[in-house]
Amino acid sequence: MPYSFARYAGAMAAADATTPDPSAVDFAFDELPGESLHRTLHALRAMGPVTPTRFLGIPSFVICAREPLFDAFIDTERFPPHRMYQASFEGAIGESFISMPEPERHRVYRRLATPAFRSRAVDRHVAEGLAPIANELLDELEGRERFDLVEDYAARFPYLVITRLLGLPRDREEAFHRWALALLSFRDDPIEAAKAAEELTAFLAPIVHERRQQPRDDVISALTQAEVEGRALTDEEIYSHVRLLFPTGGETTHGSLGNALSILLRHEDAWSRLRDDPTLIEPAVDEALRFETPIAVLPRMSASHPTCFHGVDIPADSWVLFAIAGANRDPACFDDPDCFEIGRNTSNALTFGRGVKSCPGMHLARRNLCTAIEILLERMPRLELLDPEAAEPRRSVLRCPDALHVRRLD
Ligand code: HEM
Repeated sequence: MPYSFARYAGAMAAADATTPDPSAVDFAFDELPGESLHRTLHALRAMGPVTPTRFLGIPSFVICAREPLFDAFIDTERFPPHRMYQASFEGAIGESFISMPEPERHRVYRRLATPAFRSRAVDRHVAEGLAPIANELLDELEGRERFDLVEDYAARFPYLVITRLLGLPRDREEAFHRWALALLSFRDDPIEAAKAAEELTAFLAPIVHERRQQPRDDVISALTQAEVEGRALTDEEIYSHVRLLFPTGGETTHGSLGNALSILLRHEDAWSRLRDDPTLIEPAVDEALRFETPIAVLPRMSASHPTCFHGVDIPADSWVLFAIAGANRDPACFDDPDCFEIGRNTSNALTFGRGVKSCPGMHLARRNLCTAIEILLERMPRLELLDPEAAEPRRSVLRCPDALHVRRLD
């Protein structure tokens, strides 16, 4: 079905005056802070299941409704899930399961690299690892009346957790965030990404060597013990999987913790409700992950031949944007979707994807968020948000507030 201007006109009527013109939005470049992203996605959804848009300046398609997006996630023929990662990650990260085209190899390497992220293994780490890390970061803030919860907490906590699970020392903590961002930005800045990969590998090499001799209870040791087709993984295979898990585990959780804290602090009654009843933390985290997901728009590359999806013709090698944030606020699936409602059923949200690539880190991500919020509420029960504009989540592919400047009132 070709693109219809009649449908577009209807969609524009659905948008209000403050909505950016949906046809002019580029999801790679526009910041779309706060509700402007969601108004744009509502307008695009009203145009049909698959609508034209722009990404990186290139004419592309976007899927904003929940049911077609679910179909697209599991349709590996029209939307082969490895293609985007081959183009955008592999140059810096190396070959890891995320970019492997062969389904069986993907499955085998994914199973080898992710046992530490399964729910039971993660629960074991909460008491030993997660809570002490959150407490330690908040210890550093004692005595300060004002600080930035993104820079001082949300951006540090996930890296300290993932390095602990991987079994990496913390002595290069100042470089962790920079390396992760550079690795994930390979397409925009391949030179910086290659430099980050080199520095991270130099940091990893002696650790991998040591764990081969003396394994411990961590992911790197597990990878040194693993076997594929009767042989041990090579050093390079181990490096590339660590170069994958380190930024994917760090940056998404940084974004989701920033978004969740932004929502809770901007809805004053939400923060005080959680303070008064900590059993609400878990449902509040699930709702925050639906309401403002850090991967608001996930780029996919379509098959290398023309396809047709939900009646729309898609040329070969097109960018097709999986608008998870649009699916999570689809009124056909969630009542009053723009309302942050603790306790609603969020099981249809697509925050962690679906199908063969569904997120292996979802249990860790949820535990990270619950623990970080629970300990912050215990230690700093009364916080005032100082700059609501900076606190608005922004950008689409990795969505997060730039800052959460707060003042302690307790
Ligand atoms: C709130 C935090 C997180 C969100 C919203 C998130 C979201 C997602 C999504 C949507 C996918 C599917 C990608 C696709 O279909 O192409 C995915 C895959 C993935 N995630 Fe997460 N994730 C989060 C946390 C984590 C953590 C903590 C880790 C590390 C342990 C992780 C590692 C991965 C990996 C390695 C994949 C690729 C899976 C594969 O290729 O089979 N994620 N994630």
